[in-house]
Amino acid sequence: MKTITVKSLKGSYKICVGRGLLAGAGARLSAMFPAGSRIMIVSQKNLAPYLKTISASLAKKGFKVHAHMLPDGEVAKSGSELFRLCHALLAQGFERKGGIVAVGGGVVSDLAGFAASVYLRGIRYVNVATTLLAQVDSAIGGKTAIDLKDGKNLMGSFWPPALVISDADVLRSLPQRELSASLGEVVKYGVISDPALFRFLEKNNKKILRRDAATIEKIVFACSQIKAAVVSRDEFETKGERAILNYGHTFAHGIEGASGYKGLVHGEAVAIGMMMAAQLAADLGICSPELPWRQMKLLVAMKLPVSVKKFNLKADAILKAMMKDKKKDQGALRFVLPRRIGKVTLEKNIPLPRVRKILCLAGAK
Ligand SMILES: NC(=O)c1ccc[n+]([C@@H]2O[C@H](COP(=O)([O-])OP(=O)(O)OC[C@H]3O[C@@H](n4cnc5c(N)ncnc54)[C@H](O)[C@@H]3O)[C@@H](O)[C@H]2O)c1
Ligand SMILES: [Zn+2]
Repeated sequence: MKTITVKSLKGSYKICVGRGLLAGAGARLSAMFPAGSRIMIVSQKNLAPYLKTISASLAKKGFKVHAHMLPDGEVAKSGSELFRLCHALLAQGFERKGGIVAVGGGVVSDLAGFAASVYLRGIRYVNVATTLLAQVDSAIGGKTAIDLKDGKNLMGSFWPPALVISDADVLRSLPQRELSASLGEVVKYGVISDPALFRFLEKNNKKILRRDAATIEKIVFACSQIKAAVVSRDEFETKGERAILNYGHTFAHGIEGASGYKGLVHGEAVAIGMMMAAQLAADLGICSPELPWRQMKLLVAMKLPVSVKKFNLKADAILKAMMKDKKKDQGALRFVLPRRIGKVTLEKNIPLPRVRKILCLAGAK
């Protein structure tokens, strides 16, 4: 097992990356919470086998263990689920010394983390990340959120976890599409800051798709290190640095919005968005024309889509959704564009016709 420390104004925390870590959860938490504290495990039915291991390990260390199940999918990130969890905590007599253990992907940790940040004005929570996306991204950095009817993640808080546990073994049961989609974010880390990781992915993509645990553990560690470093330097996204994590995302949010969040999952939209960003960078002369090709080959090898051709989307609809996206900066669209593999730049004021041209090149109508 390897650990990474994330700096936070609300208290630094560790990410544990390894294999077979779940049975040790109780021991780890007993060093952090007072003896006999109440722990609410928040999870989903898909995670039942892992829940059992974690719950037994916590009970063995004397914790009073409770479980709260969320529905599957983005619907769990709602105001009603937030209140349902807070009421459950209250009903079980949780005090401020108690804690939440979120066992799941980004949906579980976004909702459980938000509840942890507001219940009794804040209790501690631990992320046991069970999707590749959660391990490399959502479990780290303390962003919590629920969705409102006007859009995703419109309400939330910065509330860092007290610990993150990323066990590569649990990714074996992840559906293939979820794995590939998360690989979109993994490729993103290579492009924004780690040429060695990018080359490693090029070399090992078959092993990764076969879920070779040692290979997966390596990429989880590399990506976690990058995310940890970025959020340690720019915890509240005020210095522009955390913005580099949005590579591909300005386009991706436009694609997701235009498709009504149907037909493709986030990581797939990010893969297409990264292709659009790379094409835009090449078009503007910011990177070499070879970069989008190299990135495309890797994304295709990871079984990810690289254009919107088969999704039947209109360029104007994507543009409109991009303009609505909350990440636009004072009305202007902001793009993270690659200079070379491992180095990106933040660009504003790109003329809309130029952006539209890229959308059409990528198969929008
Ligand atoms: N807070 C952040 O910084 C941040 C960053 C990126 C994304 N997000 C959020 O994360 C969410 C997406 O998260 P996700 O991609 O992890 O999806 P998810 O949490 O919906 O999980 C995907 C599916 O896989 C199942 N699952 C999870 N782990 C499994 C396992 N080991 N084996 C079998 N099935 C498993 C889940 O039950 C679910 O059905 C979005 O809501 C997004 O907004 C948050
Ligand atoms: Zn993303």
